[in-house]
Amino acid sequence: ATLTACGGFDTPSGGGEAEASGGAGGADAEKVFKVAFNQNAEQPEAVAMTHLGERLAERTDGRYSLEVFPNETLGAQKDTVELVQAGTVDFALVAGSLLENFNPDFVALNMPFAYDSQEHQEAVLNDPEITGDVYSSIEDQNIRVLGGFSAGTRSVYNSEKPITEPADLAGMKIRVMESDTNTRMMELMGGTGTPMGQGEVYTAIQSGVIEGGENNESIYANLKHAEVAPYYSYTKHLMIPDLLITSPAVFDTMSADDQAIFLEELQGAFEESSELTTKIMADSKAAAEEAGAEFNEPDVEPFRDAVAPLVDEKLTTDTSRELYDAVRAAAE
Ligand code: GCU
Repeated sequence: ATLTACGGFDTPSGGGEAEASGGAGGADAEKVFKVAFNQNAEQPEAVAMTHLGERLAERTDGRYSLEVFPNETLGAQKDTVELVQAGTVDFALVAGSLLENFNPDFVALNMPFAYDSQEHQEAVLNDPEITGDVYSSIEDQNIRVLGGFSAGTRSVYNSEKPITEPADLAGMKIRVMESDTNTRMMELMGGTGTPMGQGEVYTAIQSGVIEGGENNESIYANLKHAEVAPYYSYTKHLMIPDLLITSPAVFDTMSADDQAIFLEELQGAFEESSELTTKIMADSKAAAEEAGAEFNEPDVEPFRDAVAPLVDEKLTTDTSRELYDAVRAAAE
C-alpha cells in the first residue's frame, strides 16, 4: 500500500517521511506502533494516545510505544482501515460508521439520537458486556476493536442560511461520512447526503459542490469550515464514536501481560480524551464565532421524528436490535 499525504489539513508539506507527534517518552522503544489519525495532533484523541504511548513505554520497560500520525498523513480514515487489515499500520482511530461496511451490526452504535450525553456514550462504548461481541466480530477480517472514544455531538452547518426545520435542508447537499446509514439519515432529515472523506470537505464547500457538512464544533472550527459555511445549526442528531482498531495479528505479537498493560492504560486514555473533548468543544464554538460563524438552536424534535424510520430500516438483525436496545437501556 502507498502512504499518501492528503490535503485539507495542516499537513506538513512535501513528500517523504510522514511526520508524527510521538511523545519523547517512547520514541526509542524497541517497537513503536504506528497510530493513524485523521485530525490534528492537538485533538483530544491524539493527545491521549500520545500519552498512552509514554505510559506504555514506561510500564513495558521500553518494549512498546506508540507514535500518532495525525492529519491523514497515513491516509483518509477509509484507507487506514485497510492499512490496519494489511498490518501496514498498527492502529487507527476511525469513525464507527466505517465499520458498518465490515459488519452491519455496528450501525447500532452509530444511530442518530442513540445517546443522551457524552457520559452515556462513554459508558456504553467501553462496557464489554454491551460492546464486547460486536468489537470482536470482525477478527476474521483482521480487525479488532479495542474501545471507543466519544467524538462530541454532530450538527449541520452550511453556506446559505440557519437551519430551523428539516424543510430548510431541501435542495442542500450536505457532506456525510462514508456509510449508507449516514446518506439515508441526511435524506430523512430533508437534505441530500454526499459521502466523502473529511479532508475534502472544505474545498467541496468552497467550490459549491456541496452546501455544507455535519460535524462537532471542534472539526468545524479547526478545519476552518466556518470560513466557507458560516451557519451552524444545533440539530445534535448524531454522536458517532471513534473506535480504536488494530489487527489481531499485530496486537497478539505482544505477550498477554503487555496486552493487559496496554488495555489498562487505554482506560486512562479514554478518561483523558473525555475531559479534553468537553473543553475543546466549548473553546471551538467561541473560536468559530470569532471567525464569523453564526450558531442557532433549532427545535430538535422534528429532526428526531424525521430520522425515526432508520431504526426499522437499519436494525434488521436480532443482534443489531439487541445491541441498540442495550445502548438505549444504558441511558436510564
Ligand atoms: C469526527 C470524527 C472523525 C471523523 C470525522 C468525519 O471528527 O471524530 O472520526 O472522521 O468526524 O466527519 O469524517
